[in-house]
Amino acid sequence: MSRTPVDDDWGQIYAFLPAEPWVRVAHESRRPFAAHANWLEIGWALRREFWGRGYASEIGRAGLAFAFDVLGVQAVVSCTVRHNVRSLAVMRRIGMQYAGEIQSRGTVEGFEEQQDDAPFSVCVLLRRDWDRFAGS
Ligand SMILES: CC(C)(COP(=O)(O)OP(=O)(O)OC[C@H]1O[C@@H](n2cnc3c(N)ncnc32)[C@H](O)[C@@H]1OP(=O)(O)O)[C@@H](O)C(=O)NCCC(=O)NCCS
Repeated sequence: MSRTPVDDDWGQIYAFLPAEPWVRVAHESRRPFAAHANWLEIGWALRREFWGRGYASEIGRAGLAFAFDVLGVQAVVSCTVRHNVRSLAVMRRIGMQYAGEIQSRGTVEGFEEQQDDAPFSVCVLLRRDWDRFAGS
């Protein structure tokens, strides 16, 4: 789980969040960089032999609970290169909603070198949806 830098690439995600002031507020600490105060990114990685057992989804659910219930953020986002269908499946399995794509430096299917404008899938879970989800 990480705080997202206030910069152009991450600014593309504003389009997927509510048009509310909390989205652009920077964290009071500027170290190690200026970061958004009220929303986080979540991610996961497992060694190959542990795929297919539900561990990443368990990690993801625990991360969401920590972000919303302990840190009290307003939203959690998750991004993955377009062709990483397993990671996207984890996002959806744990209740995050597909929001669209952004472009950033990363891998593109069919290219060996990283590209500057690689498409990344973005999923979002808002606090209001988490509260409804957790309460149901
Ligand atoms: C992304 C990554 C973590 C996903 O791993 P994963 O194994 O697909 O995801 P999970 O651990 O949640 O496992 C889900 C699978 O386990 C199955 N499963 C088996 N037992 C289960 C259980 N007890 N509970 C839940 N799911 C279970 C599910 O049915 C599902 O199977 P499916 O993929 O055939 O539909 C893994 O592909 C990875 O580490 N990739 C490299 C790093 C990476 O790309 N990280 C993301 C960067 S954005």
